[in-house]
Amino acid sequence: MAKIAPSILSADFCNLEQDIRRVSAADWLHVDVMDGMFVPNITIGVPVVQSIRKHTNMFLDVHLMIDKPVRYIEQFAKAGADLLSVHLEADHPARIADALRAMEASGVKRAAALRPITSARAVLPYIEQLDMVLVMTVEPGFGGQKFMESQLDTIREVRALIDRYNPACELEVDGGVGPANAKTVIEAGATVLVAGSAVYGAEEPEKAIESLRKVR
Ligand code: DX5
Ligand code: ZN
Repeated sequence: MAKIAPSILSADFCNLEQDIRRVSAADWLHVDVMDGMFVPNITIGVPVVQSIRKHTNMFLDVHLMIDKPVRYIEQFAKAGADLLSVHLEADHPARIADALRAMEASGVKRAAALRPITSARAVLPYIEQLDMVLVMTVEPGFGGQKFMESQLDTIREVRALIDRYNPACELEVDGGVGPANAKTVIEAGATVLVAGSAVYGAEEPEKAIESLRKVR
């Protein structure tokens, strides 16, 4: 059964506590951090993660869409993130390796994220140290975009690498995932589905989570 990770990017930031409670039946909470540099949008940062941590026991899956993420690993870990995803495009390989080491030292789970342009093979230097690979199925930056079918191949390729080198590693798919494509995404190899608009755009988010969970 795939884990469901609602993305609070589609929540009402003025009613965040209430909107987090509405999805508390989900497995993880996906938190999109954007810096206006790595992606054109600016969302939330360390203080907000710290506040979220005070109000929920949910597993905080923090997706860092920021340049040179190594600078902020310790701060996000201290703020209460359970897992941090860094984009492989966001810094030189040696600094990405530094970021993964900082995550290990801070006791948070480690994930590498891929933009749609990046090939699955880019995870190879890191695969054995990772707890998760995040495959983007939209250009990072905004919720509510259309799922890129062409990314199904990347999901399958990452699945094959995980099976070969680190079978315990999770594979998260992020962007445009919903009832129409959840089955295909799981069949391609995903173990965690991020869903922003599919959950928060639904009349009843609890039911949207339940029905995504039933997909297999
Ligand atoms: C996009 C974010 C996604 C986004 C998903 O850059 O990383 O997590 O919130 O939202 P939906 O599910 O609406 O595509
Ligand atoms: Zn995300």
